[in-house]
Amino acid sequence: MHRIAVIPGDGIGPEVIEQALLVLDKVSSKFGVKFEYIFIDAGGCAIDKYGVPIKDEDLELVKKCEATLLGAVGGPKWDGLPGNLRPEQALLKLRGGLKVYANLRPAVLYDELKDSSPLKKEIVSRGIDILVVRELIGGMYFGPKGREVKNGDEVAYDTEVYSKSEVRRIAKVAFEAARKRRKKVTSVDKANILESSRLWRETVEEVAKDYPDVALNHMYVDNASMQLVKDPSQFDVILTSNMFGDILSDEASMIVGSIGMLASASLGEGRVGLYEPIHGTAPDIAGQDLANPIATILSAAMMLRYSFDMEDAVKAIENAVKIALKEGYRTRDIYTENCKLVGTKQMGKIICENI
Ligand code: IPM
Ligand code: MG
Repeated sequence: MHRIAVIPGDGIGPEVIEQALLVLDKVSSKFGVKFEYIFIDAGGCAIDKYGVPIKDEDLELVKKCEATLLGAVGGPKWDGLPGNLRPEQALLKLRGGLKVYANLRPAVLYDELKDSSPLKKEIVSRGIDILVVRELIGGMYFGPKGREVKNGDEVAYDTEVYSKSEVRRIAKVAFEAARKRRKKVTSVDKANILESSRLWRETVEEVAKDYPDVALNHMYVDNASMQLVKDPSQFDVILTSNMFGDILSDEASMIVGSIGMLASASLGEGRVGLYEPIHGTAPDIAGQDLANPIATILSAAMMLRYSFDMEDAVKAIENAVKIALKEGYRTRDIYTENCKLVGTKQMGKIICENI
């Protein structure tokens, strides 16, 4: 029996979570394992109900679960609220509270989705298989921030802060991951300008000494964003800060077809993890059965891998997704000519049947 906190959230969150839970139900019956779901309100829906992005007691409840599966939070309805009361604050509280410092975002181009990539065929044909390792509970997202009036002018600031130990632990995750892949780490920073990046770079070099079998190179973030569209096949593991990882992972998701395909796992020490698609709440298509549930389904698969060690079930889910794509089923975001257009529910159903 595994106890999972389920946070559907806002916008398309509940729809995609519903499909991921159907997939988990199927896994449960096929692989003889039981899941207990604890449903938690977080994000805009919690603000509407309780006046806060997530209640303290709910955060405590989440901490007692073995893993958390989250849809997405946020939306225009709550955009006008002060920073500490925005839905996104729930995410930061969850990530910080669970101490999940390592965010793994695999961006893989499926053969079947080559036509959905906006990149030229000759670039795509070299293949794309990148793991973005994003530091998740430090940097500008968590550094000192505020507003003040200086000489009669209103000023706002956010601060990028990294300690050596924070960089060391995330770098280790990247090198360990690279060992199981193509043994290359590209550390992305802005060391030509930022002092925090210079500390980042020095520390990554120190950690690299323990991994002589893994090749390391450094890249400035502006160049990395260009290289990602010029020749993504050069990347294996991208190691980067919270802020840069947020931006680069959206770019990585687009070149592999759609942000609706990218799953993520956020891990700390031990097996507790937070699993969420990298996409947002897509309010423009919410509630219309248009969203792609695959990113969330693959996030559930990552949960089975990292929190529950169920590799057979992971393979079954990943394979089921591939079959659905091979058979030509597409939600709108990945639709190309001559494919079969399906909605959120039908895509989930087809994937379940393929398990
Ligand atoms: C992500 C999202 C979040 C982030 C937002 C919703 C707070 O963009 O997971 O990439 O910036 O981390
Ligand atoms: Mg993002």
